[in-house]
Amino acid sequence: MIAEIQKLKKERNAVILAHNYTLGEVQDVADYTGDSLELARRAVQVDADVIVFCGVYFMAETAKILNPAKTVLIPEPSAGCPMADMISGAQLRELKAAHPGAVAVCYVNSTAEVKAECDICVTSGNAEKVMATIGRDKEILFVPDRHLGSHISAKEGREYVLWQGHCPIHNALAAETVKAMRAKYPGAPVLVHPECPKAIRDLADECLSTGGMCAYALKSEADTILVGTEIGILHRLRKENPSKTFIPVSTELVCADMKKITLENLLASLRDMKTKVEVPAETAVKARRAIEAMLAVC
Ligand code: 13P
Ligand code: SF4
Repeated sequence: MIAEIQKLKKERNAVILAHNYTLGEVQDVADYTGDSLELARRAVQVDADVIVFCGVYFMAETAKILNPAKTVLIPEPSAGCPMADMISGAQLRELKAAHPGAVAVCYVNSTAEVKAECDICVTSGNAEKVMATIGRDKEILFVPDRHLGSHISAKEGREYVLWQGHCPIHNALAAETVKAMRAKYPGAPVLVHPECPKAIRDLADECLSTGGMCAYALKSEADTILVGTEIGILHRLRKENPSKTFIPVSTELVCADMKKITLENLLASLRDMKTKVEVPAETAVKARRAIEAMLAVC
């Protein structure tokens, strides 16, 4: 299957982008593996006709919005992000109407329709820098992740109007689990994702995007690191740092949607050129403004 994927990739002049949470075998066959920000940046740099996006739908949609002339394929279109679906365009329009003049900010884990309603987008990897560009006199609407929003708002020392969305996987991590793992591995740094609730973030040494965790691991002198995010990232961490030990804070941190991308459907995707990601032109133009405003900052 791997050989066939490589062959088809050449024939189609395609590039394979994979998120850090996808299955190890998918990451291994990809040209680039990264976090949402790294993959969005890659998507604007690729010199291929076809982008096969191994990740959840909003990520493939972001790649399409940035590359309207390219074919963007997602091997399994039902791979969604439940958090992205926690706010609709209509709900955001209602929120904006209730807060005239406010700056609307969306986490990249959102639909194209929601991005189209926003002034600027953020990822977990750049949220602090992007938010710092918004005037202190402005009211800020932050959607959909209340945890990333509260994390950055605390760092900035100002209040945001937070939409009450969350990632069901990170939201379910219990403080007791983190405490028990800390007790079991004393001295090992604990890394968590900003999608975790405050009680979890407060127990961690570092609160980082998945790309931030990979960078931390490369630099860290610790030989054992506790990882509080989706377990797919362990593959990359272990591959890039063979002498270090990475332990999941909880093996229950599994994003079923990310796991829907397999070598089988990746191969079928390249073979049959499916499933093409399409975004209505009007939505795409508006959503692109919010994504490009973010990429202009970092
Ligand atoms: P990153 O941008 O940190 O990879 O996060 C994406 C995501 O969906 C986390 O749940
Ligand atoms: Fe969405 Fe959570 Fe899965 Fe990330 S881990 S894609 S936020 S459901």
